[in-house]
Amino acid sequence: MQSKVIFCVLFGIFLTSTFDFNDAVVFKFTNVVCESFNKSWFVFHNCRLKAVSRTKVTFNMNATILHPTNDIFIHAKVFKRANGYKPWLFDVNFDACLYLRRRSIPFVSLVYGLVKEFSNINHTCPYVGPQIIKDFYLKPELLRLPIPTGDYMLSLQWLFNKKPQFDTNVSFTFVEDLLKSK
Ligand SMILES: *[C@@H]1O[C@H](CO)[C@@H](O)[C@H](O)[C@H]1NC(C)=O
Ligand SMILES: *[C@@H]1O[C@H](CO)[C@@H](O)[C@H](O)[C@H]1NC(C)=O
Ligand SMILES: *[C@@H]1O[C@H](CO)[C@@H](O)[C@H](O)[C@H]1NC(C)=O
Ligand SMILES: *[C@@H]1O[C@H](CO)[C@@H](O)[C@H](O)[C@H]1NC(C)=O
Repeated sequence: MQSKVIFCVLFGIFLTSTFDFNDAVVFKFTNVVCESFNKSWFVFHNCRLKAVSRTKVTFNMNATILHPTNDIFIHAKVFKRANGYKPWLFDVNFDACLYLRRRSIPFVSLVYGLVKEFSNINHTCPYVGPQIIKDFYLKPELLRLPIPTGDYMLSLQWLFNKKPQFDTNVSFTFVEDLLKSK
């Protein structure tokens, strides 16, 4: 309980602190891993990064949900690299269908805000058919959270009907502009 309160306070400070969003010189994908554990429900056709320039890497994904689903839970965890990936700050289990109706979890809104304009996932449940992410790249100005320079991984484990169906693990690097922040 106490740690939850401390977490909320810290998160509030993060969100309200003044931060120059353009301080990031690099905010880009470094790896993606997509794997379905139940190909009779969820199939990946494509899940790939493409380096467009030194600082811009795009993520394309094409997948199909074969039967409508109204029961989606996501286990989201962030890791930061320091001699291997170590759990870092966020470990959230949430009801994705409920989130899409209420948009009430700040951490989820942060991630959702980065991806929604590049995808067809901006609707409420049920989900069925093609799930497309096209030319998604990370925009530092949308990262309303001053994170330290480093290598990170966002692991999303997707559950339909409370059972794991697939993982999408996305790694990225974030480098602050050290010259500017002096
Ligand atoms: C995704 O990351 C989690 C956390 O490290 C790991 O347990 C899981 O095996 C990974 N999934 C895949 C498909 O690599
Ligand atoms: C796999 O998907 C099928 C639907 O095609 C579903 O009936 C079954 O329960 C799923 N298995 C698991 C372990 O979730
Ligand atoms: C996604 O993959 C399917 C199966 O390969 C293909 O038919 C479809 O055209 C692809 N969609 C996009 C937007 O690339
Ligand atoms: C998509 O997101 C925008 C901005 O959050 C919202 O205004 C719009 O209604 C959404 N569209 C759908 C189909 O949910």
